[in-house]
Amino acid sequence: MTRRLAPLESAMPGDFQGAPPDDRHRCGSKDGRSDPTASLYPNIGAGPALVPVDIGHDAFTALVEPDTAFWSLVSKERLAEVLADPSFVGQVHEHAEAFTAEMDLLRFGLVPSAVYFNPTERCNLNCTYCYLPEQRRLRGVRMSQGRLFEALEILLEFFHRALPDGVRPQVIFHGAEPMLERRALFSAIDHFADEVVFGVQTNGTLLAHEAIEFLTSRRVSLGLSLDGSLPGITDRTRRTHSGRGVHDRVVGVLEALRGYENHAVICTVTTENLGDLVGVVELLHGLEVPTCMLNPVRCTLQGARRVRPPDDDLVVGYLAALERADELYRETGRKLVVANFANILLAVVAPTARRLMCDISPCGAGRCFFAVDAQGDLFPCSEFIGLSGFEGGNLFAGGLEHCFDTDAFRAVATRRVETIERCRGCAIRHFCGAPCPAEAHELHGDLERRGAYCRFYEEQFRFALRLIAEGREDAFLPDDWDAATTTVFEVTHP
Ligand SMILES: C[S@@+](CC[C@H](N)C(=O)[O-])C[C@H]1O[C@@H](n2cnc3c(N)ncnc32)[C@H](O)[C@@H]1O
Ligand code: SF4
Ligand code: SF4
Repeated sequence: MTRRLAPLESAMPGDFQGAPPDDRHRCGSKDGRSDPTASLYPNIGAGPALVPVDIGHDAFTALVEPDTAFWSLVSKERLAEVLADPSFVGQVHEHAEAFTAEMDLLRFGLVPSAVYFNPTERCNLNCTYCYLPEQRRLRGVRMSQGRLFEALEILLEFFHRALPDGVRPQVIFHGAEPMLERRALFSAIDHFADEVVFGVQTNGTLLAHEAIEFLTSRRVSLGLSLDGSLPGITDRTRRTHSGRGVHDRVVGVLEALRGYENHAVICTVTTENLGDLVGVVELLHGLEVPTCMLNPVRCTLQGARRVRPPDDDLVVGYLAALERADELYRETGRKLVVANFANILLAVVAPTARRLMCDISPCGAGRCFFAVDAQGDLFPCSEFIGLSGFEGGNLFAGGLEHCFDTDAFRAVATRRVETIERCRGCAIRHFCGAPCPAEAHELHGDLERRGAYCRFYEEQFRFALRLIAEGREDAFLPDDWDAATTTVFEVTHP
């Protein structure tokens, strides 16, 4: 069985953290081999490079063509037969051009459509793994309301030029802790409501009743952070500068958000909560949170490396949490989508329907989105804000016109799996993307290296393919995931 979907053109912008440029091209299928002399034998000459990948399933193996991210599930007993079947290979040829165009669009053809905006360097918390330097979170710069409005005007002018007509850019207030600048933020959200899709990523400790009322009545996307199912677990990593825990406060806010469909929770996975991921899923599902992320801690700064989970343990805890989410869905009919896994699954079944741009290379940093700090300095992604050498100019000094051409942005936005040792020969390189450049740079002093969690990506891919083999994938995807897609290639082996 082989399946691959592509979005309908009209539904593409906005679904991405990055949007097709105005002169976007459409992937179309073409009859026959694009090169009539191409071999019908896999792995010879211009025949398709089909790599068998063990997915840990009793009955099926995957065949993957790494360059085009084509895959097919093949009965183990018939693997040799399928590889020698000219009609199968012919069909792979037939669609190669369309698949290549699709991947090229995703990898090289998108324009920025989102900005992570830090209105302050300060934060009321001191999480052990935070990638933002502690001194800045304590005493850093704050942006005035005037400066915030000025910044948004500059950004809007840029996005109007960059994006196709009718596509609104996303501005995600991020941080440090954006809710420390609540007054300025709320004025901006009301002032620019017609032109911007707003989001707020917050630690949740400063969301009083009126703030929740304000944000939900304006349909703002809300992201909260919570690392455990119990105070004794969350508070190991997330606490105030004086060491007080925040678990109960955040759970209280999630109670208040029950029924609001536009919110999500990030759980940062570390050695401290690895054994509790099932508990986290149960808690969030019980609170009717629609979406969560179980993000392994990025090892950019020393504090994060101290709580880095070993890959193999991470895989066990993570897959158990995914299975529990599925069980709860079957019991209640209500989904808790684990968005970082859903994105890998989408990368497999419908590459251009993926919504996050971390697990593709180049990643979305500096090409689909970028970050602005409280001084107006521009970075390819928030993860680079605390790192030296990755600033690409200043927003208030005209930097937005040039930042995409600076060495800082280019180095990140052109980082490709094909130039990374080990990854260049990896069958699943376009489902993984070798994240994350900031992590690779800080771990190895080199962007052209793998990040921390290679095995984690391998196992997510294998799990995704097992789900597909068992017809279970829809349970792990958002309900509307295929509303905007059309099947471009479907084959069932007789
Ligand atoms: C930097 S915070 C900013 C917004 C807000 N203060 C919050 O905590 O949600 C955004 C998210 O990044 C996560 N984060 C911080 N440092 C991280 C790291 N080293 N690796 C992975 N995630 C991290 C946090 O847990 C949080 O969910
Ligand atoms: S993760 Fe968020 S809440 Fe925690 S210290 Fe960093 S900015 Fe503050
Ligand atoms: S990080 Fe690992 S799984 Fe990802 S592309 Fe590189 S080798 Fe493959």
